[in-house]
Amino acid sequence: MRILGIESSCDETAAAVVVDGREILSSVVASQIEIHHKYGGVVPELASREHLRQIVPVVREAIAQAGMELSNVDAIGVTQGPGLVGALLVGITYGKTVAQALGKPLVPVNHLEGHVHAVFLEAHKAGRAARLPAVCLIVSGGHTVLYEVKPEDSNVQDSNALLRYRKMGQTRDDAAGEAYDKVAKLLGLGYPGGPILDRLAAVSNDAPAPVKFGPTKMKGNALDFSFSGLKTAMLYHVREHSEYAEEIRRREEALTRGKRKFEELLPLCSPKTLALVREFQHAVVRDLVERTMSAAEELGVESVLVSGGVAANSQLRVTFEERSKAAGVEVFFPSRALSTDNAAMIAAAAYSRFRAGIIADSTLNADPSLALA
Ligand code: KG4
Ligand code: ZN
Repeated sequence: MRILGIESSCDETAAAVVVDGREILSSVVASQIEIHHKYGGVVPELASREHLRQIVPVVREAIAQAGMELSNVDAIGVTQGPGLVGALLVGITYGKTVAQALGKPLVPVNHLEGHVHAVFLEAHKAGRAARLPAVCLIVSGGHTVLYEVKPEDSNVQDSNALLRYRKMGQTRDDAAGEAYDKVAKLLGLGYPGGPILDRLAAVSNDAPAPVKFGPTKMKGNALDFSFSGLKTAMLYHVREHSEYAEEIRRREEALTRGKRKFEELLPLCSPKTLALVREFQHAVVRDLVERTMSAAEELGVESVLVSGGVAANSQLRVTFEERSKAAGVEVFFPSRALSTDNAAMIAAAAYSRFRAGIIADSTLNADPSLALA
């Protein structure tokens, strides 16, 4: 079964064709980073307008790369939410129109379930399979949430069967990716913050940590997350130490001249700044890994799934690999391309929902706060 997936929940217009929820025939992503970077974050109005411009060529490209015609598609899967309402509506309206014109079923997909399926797609490519139930951490610019994932029928070990989710913890304030983006903005390192901070944190440097961040203690649910305290601590540290101001100003100036690459910004970072970035990343990664591993231990699961834009982080991957090996748990990540928003994950999630008989009618609407559990 060939499903055309459509994703437009935030700042990526994406389309993909996936066979039986497993084999990716094509996956096209048009990123809007070029449009939003000068504002230091996603501007919803601009995002909707850009989705409108991109949706037709992106779908066309995905169909062409899959070597087929639009009429050969067996079903259409589209992100219903969560996300920006105006952005979601572009994908949904387009999906509905195509489904109606071709007389094909339209399957509504939760964006977060898409991120879970990104892990299954990758595992399948690598000839691996995640044992269920599992613990899944979805960590992106909009979400930081821990789920228990299990098949509806506990005897079935099939990620294409309908899955059930139970929320175990979530961020009480900022998402981890949002913290990366805000800290990068504060330091004059542009948008999005994750990729550049990730690379700067890895630059070898003997400078001592200019400040230490302890683990975030949570009252109540110990599996919840919080990143706004860390972000504020970074802000105060930078404000209170005037030596950062001049290099931040120089980097901001470089950004306005279009110099946004790692190689261009690295020479403008002092050893002290690099050490500060290293400490920030260390604190975020430690919290993400420790809470996820506690959840896995609590449930006694054999698999941990990690997905979403921040799952591309190199230190997060290494730390999870080390911790899971020590705990006798298998950890699964999507490739970097499947970690960030894409439509292959939406098509894969749509397949399991279609098999379970979940099909939308013409009243399908965007749900900006659609919950998974
Ligand atoms: O999943 P995604 O593409 O979009 C959302 O649904 O939010 O995630 C984007 C987020 C951004 O906040 C970005 O800074 C972060 O993922 N990100 C990273 C890395 N690559 C992207 N954060 C840390 N390290 C990375 N390598
Ligand atoms: Zn996402």
